[in-house]
Amino acid sequence: MDDLLKMPIPFKTRQELAAGAPSGFLSIGHRGASGHAPENTRLAMDTAVRLGAQWVEFDVQRHGDTLLVFHDDRLDRTTDGQGRLLEQSLETIRQLDAGRGETIPTLQEMLDHIDRRVGVNIELKSFGGTAAAVASVLREYVDQRGWVPDQFLVSSFHLRELREFRRLAPMIPTAVLLCGVPLDLAACAAEIGAVAINLASDFVDAELVADARSRGLKVYVYTVNDQDDIEQLRACGIDGVFTDYPERAVFVDRAA
Ligand code: G3P
Ligand code: MG
Repeated sequence: MDDLLKMPIPFKTRQELAAGAPSGFLSIGHRGASGHAPENTRLAMDTAVRLGAQWVEFDVQRHGDTLLVFHDDRLDRTTDGQGRLLEQSLETIRQLDAGRGETIPTLQEMLDHIDRRVGVNIELKSFGGTAAAVASVLREYVDQRGWVPDQFLVSSFHLRELREFRRLAPMIPTAVLLCGVPLDLAACAAEIGAVAINLASDFVDAELVADARSRGLKVYVYTVNDQDDIEQLRACGIDGVFTDYPERAVFVDRAA
């Protein structure tokens, strides 16, 4: 068992959390608590929950009929395998070590493991059928497995794929991923019917944030690991951050 999972929550104890109103600011474990455990693994999600994250984010790619939780195009950086993910057989992929004995999970395995303990942000990394496959899975989890739509947030940089997801599963909230400042600011999110923009930290632009606000959108910023940066974003009214160290973004609003 991972030592980290046995440790007390370092920044905010459960008693402290109980004493104050929960902060509206979201700590979103980026690829789980990927600063502490191998990214996009079940261990990384457990660690994020343990450290106080209210949400976890992970990346999904379609491999034939299977949805895999995996970030890169290639296997080399995060596993003991080599080559492109989509060029390897599922049998080979499933035997790889994704770090500390963890394996690459399917979307369904990951959802079953998380088991509604925290909100789940699924990033559609691949396209060309990924939206349809993920929509099918999430509809099943809502209709038959007791999840509620608001426990999910589906996002993508591929806005056409995200729009397709929204068409197929309009009950599931979506977020537009932005790594830049569009000419028409947050209009693309409104057009898709998204509830949020998930914005790269280099592009936290006042006009973009104000436009998102005026459209009733939440603004979440990725990937922010520095404690001072997290606190500054919170002070600016940002709604939450994606971080590899979720404990750094857990705050408690003391009752007045
Ligand atoms: O969803 C936020 C963030 O994960 C987007 O970038 O490359 O880490 O998937 P990336
Ligand atoms: Mg991601």
